[in-house]
Amino acid sequence: VRRLVVIGIGTGNPEQITIEAVNAMNAADVLFTVDKGAGKQDLLDARKEICARYLTGRSRIIEVRDPERDRAAEAYRTAVEAWDEARAEAYEHAVAAELDDDGCGAFLVWGDPSLYDGTLRVLARMAARGKIAFEYSVVPGITSVQALAARHRIALTGIGEPVQITTGRRLAAEGMPSGVDNVVVMLDGGTSFDRVAADDVDIYWGAYLGTDDELLAAGPLPRSAPAIAATRRDARERRGWIMDTYLLRRRGREGA
Ligand SMILES: C[S@@+](CC[C@H](N)C(=O)[O-])C[C@H]1O[C@@H](n2cnc3c(N)ncnc32)[C@H](O)[C@@H]1O
Repeated sequence: VRRLVVIGIGTGNPEQITIEAVNAMNAADVLFTVDKGAGKQDLLDARKEICARYLTGRSRIIEVRDPERDRAAEAYRTAVEAWDEARAEAYEHAVAAELDDDGCGAFLVWGDPSLYDGTLRVLARMAARGKIAFEYSVVPGITSVQALAARHRIALTGIGEPVQITTGRRLAAEGMPSGVDNVVVMLDGGTSFDRVAADDVDIYWGAYLGTDDELLAAGPLPRSAPAIAATRRDARERRGWIMDTYLLRRRGREGA
């Protein structure tokens, strides 16, 4: 039966990849890299760099084109489900075409597949469709959240405290969640931190973490927000795209 392994490859620094991941890449007959389309060339290049550095054997690299998501659709969940189905079909097609019945294929995933990545959802869908038989497993990678914490030299949790990971969309809609003092925000298409009007919150921000263009900023939120927004806008204009992650932390209750 075909075996698929989903490998987390970190978020841009080719040195932030585990030995288990490198071994799994080299054990695979085919590495499937997903082309996310325009603007994401840098991501594809980072994956290529990892392959160039670490592949020692005979693994073939196959690019799978990600189907377009309907970003105009009103119902977000329904749009994502339709997109997942299209992706399941595309991946199924690639696996059937490129992998022998007893072959091993790897999907390289940005960061770690456990955080805001649809690959595991799509593989579960592929399994449920039942068109091709396969088993699958996961090799973990360094997430952008870990890269952020390391660069700022901070722990995400105060003593005995929880941390919540959420999206820019939710932060914009709901503000800083109550009852949580540590909130990591990902997938922010803009500057949702502007909506948090709290004087007792610090921000630890990072963009292009792990790459040569890494940007970092930290400070009290109301005071730091305009400078971060300006840096973000300039960087986005220069590169054409941006990926940033930040921690919002309520001050003064450490150890409570
Ligand atoms: C689709 S999610 C993928 C997350 C990924 N699976 C991970 O483990 O980090 C994309 C989001 O991850 C964050 N991200 C990914 N790479 C990043 C990087 N190099 N620097 C800063 N944030 C990054 C950003 O919040 C971005 O909007």
